[in-house]
Amino acid sequence: MIKIISVVGARPNFMKIAPFIRAIESHNKKKDEVDDTRIEHLLVHTGQHYDLQMSYLFFKQLDIPRADINLGVGSGTHAQQVGKTMIAFEKVLKRHRPDWIVIVGDVNATLACSITAKKEHIKCCHIEAGIRSGDITMPEEVNRIVADRLSDLLLTPHRVANENLKKEGVPDNKICFVGNTMIDTLDFNLQKAQKLDMHQIIIKNQLKSGFSFFERKSFIFDLEFKKKDFVLITLHRPSNVDSYDILNRLVSFIVDEAARDSQIIWPLHPRTKMRLKSFNLWKKVCSCRNLFLTCPLGYLEMLRLNMNAKVMLTDSGSLQAECAVLGVPCLILRWNTEWPMTLKECGGANALVGNDINLIRPAYQEALKKPRTPQNMELWDGNAAVRCLEAIVNYK
Ligand code: UD1
Repeated sequence: MIKIISVVGARPNFMKIAPFIRAIESHNKKKDEVDDTRIEHLLVHTGQHYDLQMSYLFFKQLDIPRADINLGVGSGTHAQQVGKTMIAFEKVLKRHRPDWIVIVGDVNATLACSITAKKEHIKCCHIEAGIRSGDITMPEEVNRIVADRLSDLLLTPHRVANENLKKEGVPDNKICFVGNTMIDTLDFNLQKAQKLDMHQIIIKNQLKSGFSFFERKSFIFDLEFKKKDFVLITLHRPSNVDSYDILNRLVSFIVDEAARDSQIIWPLHPRTKMRLKSFNLWKKVCSCRNLFLTCPLGYLEMLRLNMNAKVMLTDSGSLQAECAVLGVPCLILRWNTEWPMTLKECGGANALVGNDINLIRPAYQEALKKPRTPQNMELWDGNAAVRCLEAIVNYK
């Protein structure tokens, strides 16, 4: 019996862990009760994301079983989130003594639980190891570097990640290229998402704006009957939304330029909504007729919209990779990326545009003209999570 505790904390973790849990279930079905490699699995949710829309909905849509343990960490500064997680997770480890902890991605839970596990002399496996943005001011980059430094088994989504780890001195025998578990989830859910009605998605999730339903009818009609292309936007990074000047510039581009010719759907992260209000930009976004604001969308709803979007503007890491697979040209509203393999210069359709409107404007016009060209990545084949589990089971 191999005892594994997997950890999730925030929204981008959920799609990465879902196929791993499925892989464990099907592995156990093939093994009899006394087999050495049967897995005893516990799921820990640190509780960093706790809203229905940011957490529960993802568990439900992705068929993730309810977490066995919720650490209830909640919002706070980074030190508070990491500190509280470590204190609570240490108790879990002392009580359950797993053989392995499995962490995914790069959120605060990833960092906190890798440190706690190693202090308790428990083996640590990192899924999505080795990706680097090169920007140490990003909290996620700090989380990745520490988690990778401490992990015993580093499961990478791309050969570029293997190279990054080798440059940092990680020995070959700790690294295993498995593919991208996030894309396992995308493949697994494409048909389900396809069945969703886009009109229903935006009606059910709309945020209050300055327009009545009647005034919004043309937007919905155009979307429903594909009369016009639409553009998807997501923004949540502190580097974009915590400064008035930057957020104001981005909002002006969206409202005064992009929304002039295209319909825009913008699901709002709680931090962004808070900032738009405190910076007095709320009225501006709410009074733009071609801009439709929604609450954070579920996984399936976002995938459904992404399947039809003309262009994506985003500062999210996961969406960049999903756009590459779906072929949606994606403007990355950042100065660096941990997914360089999706950029134009590496054969993809994505472009780094930061938050400089002089770069965003021409790249946006170019993206609008681009046909969809899905990128084929090695081992992004829907079976990455099975390979993750094999790597753990066969670890020597
Ligand atoms: C976290 C991750 C980031 C990931 C993002 C996706 C880290 C360092 N960052 O950032 O990598 O891209 O999740 O969303 O782990 N809030 C709610 N409800 C919630 C959770 C948060 O309202 O369920 C609000 C809180 O007021 C909080 C703000 O959103 O202040 C930001 O949440 P936080 O957990 O601090 O980080 P994210 O920006 O979401």
